[in-house]
Amino acid sequence: MFTTIHGLKTFYEERGSGPAVLLLHGFPLDHRMWQEQISALESNYRVIAPDLRGFGQSEPHKDLITLEHMADELLLLLDQLQVEKAVLAGFSMGGYVAFSLLRKAPNRFNGLILANTRPDADPLEGQINRMKMAASLLEQGPQAASKAMIPKLLSEGEGSGLASEIQDQINGMSPLGLVHASLAMAFRKDSTEPLSTIQAPTLVIGGEKDSITPPSIMKKMADSIPNATYSEIKDSAHLTVREHPDQVNKAITDFLSHLHS
Ligand code: MLT
Repeated sequence: MFTTIHGLKTFYEERGSGPAVLLLHGFPLDHRMWQEQISALESNYRVIAPDLRGFGQSEPHKDLITLEHMADELLLLLDQLQVEKAVLAGFSMGGYVAFSLLRKAPNRFNGLILANTRPDADPLEGQINRMKMAASLLEQGPQAASKAMIPKLLSEGEGSGLASEIQDQINGMSPLGLVHASLAMAFRKDSTEPLSTIQAPTLVIGGEKDSITPPSIMKKMADSIPNATYSEIKDSAHLTVREHPDQVNKAITDFLSHLHS
């Protein structure tokens, strides 16, 4: 489905009916990374999975944007769809956007799922690496992101069917959208302090072999949130939701059934 937000074409997938669940994808992906979760949830929930600004079929902004800007757009999308409350699920970069949403509209979210994400801001070295990534994206296009990210996203690495599917998705992204998101992530706010103020019941999902957001960081994050449980996905690198969808779906459906019981 397409809508217009701030004059820009914006895509979102919407399926099923019931309590709303908003799924926010990671970098450099789009709503399709959630395909296995959308299929598992649509019979009981209203699942909304947008392409964040500049990703997938949502056209990039002409100016630089921040993650706060992405969060503002999502609040407008929820208004347009007349969703008063939703469970908020953010994967990696989507988790950073989720932290912005919680700062702006905490009462709008009655549950939180943080998958393979982290609360801290980038240190200087991380910021510099994002600048280098932005430069490579401008020079080489989205292939720069697929080359750098696929070995970290997937434990099988290049050559598998899943790797070539993800590679095709990344290579179809707008380079400008990926540049904007890289810079937005480099200057994101630190969300470590606010973890202790999160009111919503929370599920934290980590991947046993995730090198981007390792289990130690995920467990610490879960320990800092008052009402959080931690679920570790065995044998998975960063992209848990595609590598082991059965384990992830079980953790999510158990969490949602408990939340709505
Ligand atoms: C993601 O999966 O969204 C990225 O790994 C996040 C990041 O680069 O910090």
